[in-house]
Amino acid sequence: MTTDACHPTLELLPYAPAGRRSPMTCHYRCATSCAKPVANPTATPTFRDVVRSAVSRRGVLAGLVGLGVAGVATAQAPQAVAAGRGGRNPLAAAFDPGHQIDFSPIAPVPGDADSFDVPAGFAWSTVISWGDPIVAGAPEFDVDAQTPEAQAGQFGYNNDYTDVLPLAGDPNRALLVCNNEYTNEELMFRGWAEQDGPTDDQLRIAMAAQGMSVVELRRAGADAPWAYVRGSEYNRRITATTPMELTGRAAGSRLVRTGGDPKGRTVLGTFGNCAGGTTPWGTVLSGEENFNGYFRAPEEPVDDAAARYGMGGEGRGWDVVDGRFDVAQEPQEPNRFGYVVELDPYDPSSTPRKHTALGRLKHEGATISLAADGRAVAYMGDDERFDYVYKFVSRRSYREGDRKHNMRLLEDGDLYVAVFTGDGTEDGRYDGTGRWVPLLTGGASRVPGFSVEQVLVQTRLAADAVGATPMDRPEDVQRNPVNGRVYVACTNNTRRGTPDEVAVDEANPRPENKDGHVVEITEDRDDAAATRFRWNLVLVCGDPAEETTYFGDVDRSLVSPISCPDNVAFDAVGNLWISTDGNTLGANDGLYEVAVDGPQRGLVRQFLSVPAGAETCGPVIAADGTVFVAVQHPGELEGASVDTPKSTFPYDGTGQPRPSVVQVHRV
Ligand code: FEO
Ligand code: CA
Ligand code: CA
Ligand code: CA
Repeated sequence: MTTDACHPTLELLPYAPAGRRSPMTCHYRCATSCAKPVANPTATPTFRDVVRSAVSRRGVLAGLVGLGVAGVATAQAPQAVAAGRGGRNPLAAAFDPGHQIDFSPIAPVPGDADSFDVPAGFAWSTVISWGDPIVAGAPEFDVDAQTPEAQAGQFGYNNDYTDVLPLAGDPNRALLVCNNEYTNEELMFRGWAEQDGPTDDQLRIAMAAQGMSVVELRRAGADAPWAYVRGSEYNRRITATTPMELTGRAAGSRLVRTGGDPKGRTVLGTFGNCAGGTTPWGTVLSGEENFNGYFRAPEEPVDDAAARYGMGGEGRGWDVVDGRFDVAQEPQEPNRFGYVVELDPYDPSSTPRKHTALGRLKHEGATISLAADGRAVAYMGDDERFDYVYKFVSRRSYREGDRKHNMRLLEDGDLYVAVFTGDGTEDGRYDGTGRWVPLLTGGASRVPGFSVEQVLVQTRLAADAVGATPMDRPEDVQRNPVNGRVYVACTNNTRRGTPDEVAVDEANPRPENKDGHVVEITEDRDDAAATRFRWNLVLVCGDPAEETTYFGDVDRSLVSPISCPDNVAFDAVGNLWISTDGNTLGANDGLYEVAVDGPQRGLVRQFLSVPAGAETCGPVIAADGTVFVAVQHPGELEGASVDTPKSTFPYDGTGQPRPSVVQVHRV
């Protein structure tokens, strides 16, 4: 049976996305949400007027250059002021951590190059690719012989969050855990554009290609490359149909009950899994991001919550084979997605859990720190234009060595959202103070008019009600284990400061922000459970030749251009590593090392570059100096298909672009 439920081509996409991200990526990943109205309606004229009168675009820019006069058309970078006053950035600590990985940065690679580039003295090789058989009995990858059953035993599509976990105390064994965010049917199925619509099998293959993958890795010795183990007892696929337990105070509530699950405690599957985190107790967290695009729902949202979560559209056609993806049949089913999933990769029979305590949003990911008193703190971004940064603090504390106890920490706790306040730009820096505003503490809602369940299921609405600060698409949020500060990648927001949208503010200072920026948060007393913090922008990304950018006090001629920061990671000495998604500067995306302490604070150096159409995901900077990246959607460019690929990465002889995890090491 075929259906026209999901249009097989891109002809319906007159929309040209901001920056260089392909319309194809927008279509398949996020249902082209950028072309739709901003989902956050708290950007009311009244609210905007207040913001505008407080810090108008012109005011910010004029303040930056210390002129205070009208007519300043171009922002000048704040460091120019600081340098002019003879000051070194006072946030730069005295110690210089140096570099864990000694490399000479590569030059940006032009944006049409189908190549994977690493610095001189380094080599790369593929660890695993989409379709590689991992579960015992799964067949070899064959683009022309795909079945749902085969895909459910093969490595998933579009690897995003990636980590490599220790295994059995053996330095030559490890577990690779990956999110598989979304599928691109045009690049998966030969003849897709000529079809009337997807076949049932193709729909089920897509459902089996998303979710997560767990696979054992082995190497012959410390200097040998990692290879995956086919049929290991640890190998596992999590798909759009894997049973999961809903935990927390919203589990079982009327908001999450469906005809298929009248108790509201068992959800089938996960998808849209973007970034994630690995907990101190050895589980992996996975953020469900663009879940709204998977459901057939009325174009005109039925209520405020549906509008706020971007519901409305045809979905991906999955409703043809599974009625729960049609909200006319199961109106509550979308309320069971948009959570942080916790997976125990060491137990292949474990049931993944979706934690309602961490709220429901377009979770980019979640990363855990321990507070001074041992409570587990999760930092989280909601990746949408003008959405928010969140923090969860567990009720109970971490117990060293008590894994059973620790694995329940994310089931109950307090939930906060961030408010950023600037201290004015006269000081030449984008910085200020902030508060973590409670949405739910001590098991009680702190949002007037919202029940506990509403706070956890309609979290965006609750955060709107307390006046959270709209950010420029906050993606990965992680705490640096060396310096204790928290880094928020705001990837971009070209609507910022445009007519009828939210004005610039000190934490999001650039109008039509196409290149993004990185916020650095210092918690009060360096305690992750604090409710107050200081913040500053450590990077305002872009071409260093552009005056609106900011890279600390370093020599700009040494700075690699960087655009659209997405995932962040840290190396053993505390340098920040940033992978990018959507470079607007005419180059392919890449992975960059950023010094955040010492005299080189703000120095960005490009380490690698991914092929045309791809984004860089997952980065892992392993203790032994191996760098792992997930190369997501290589060759995802307009006009690409199985027969006319725009990339053949990882150049494995199949002639097809295959999302892959790659290892980079010194030669
Ligand atoms: Fe899946 Fe926010 O990127
Ligand atoms: Ca300031
Ligand atoms: Ca991302
Ligand atoms: Ca992104």
